[in-house]
Amino acid sequence: REIARRCTIIAELEEAVRAFEGCALKRTAKNTVFADGVAGAPIMVVGEAPGADEDRLGKPFVGVSGPLLDRMFAALGMSRERDLYITNILFWRPPGNRTPTLAEQSICLAFTRRHIELARPKLLVLAGGTAAKAVLDTTEGIMRLRGKWTSLKLDDGSEVPTMPTFHPAYLLRTPASKRQSWLDLLAIDKRLKELG
Ligand code: URA
Repeated sequence: REIARRCTIIAELEEAVRAFEGCALKRTAKNTVFADGVAGAPIMVVGEAPGADEDRLGKPFVGVSGPLLDRMFAALGMSRERDLYITNILFWRPPGNRTPTLAEQSICLAFTRRHIELARPKLLVLAGGTAAKAVLDTTEGIMRLRGKWTSLKLDDGSEVPTMPTFHPAYLLRTPASKRQSWLDLLAIDKRLKELG
């Protein structure tokens, strides 16, 4: 947390994450997966962890769930290249995609919270239950959390309107939930337009 706090711009934070040796996941991962899209974009999306494709390519959401995430926002006329800044709560792939331990999550989360402070998005979107629980520090499941705005309080005193929603990988397995996911996206679009 102290290392993260000392970083004053995103480039410094990225350098600090890449140099960080305090998370065991780094030893088994091929790459550090920091972010994709535009730093400073109005919407910041935080997912769970890099998978095999992300680990290989060094970017978040470039595997099977990536195209669905892109299509979800494309339906609102938004793109990764222009409107989104995308990261995960973990910067390194857990071996065999196992669920990250709470210790691994909390180590990376110190950087992710600072990442959100420095990126200053207008809105934060938490993709999936693991990211939502970790960032919001709750035991509540995604079924209850999704679709409801909450205000994330950051350590610098700032607050960001935050919407937890289903993870695209879940939607690929459970297409019937896309209807609820679409409602979340419409709420995100509406809020962004209100914010101007
Ligand atoms: N799932 C995630 O949560 N993040 C990625 O980057 C890829 C898949």
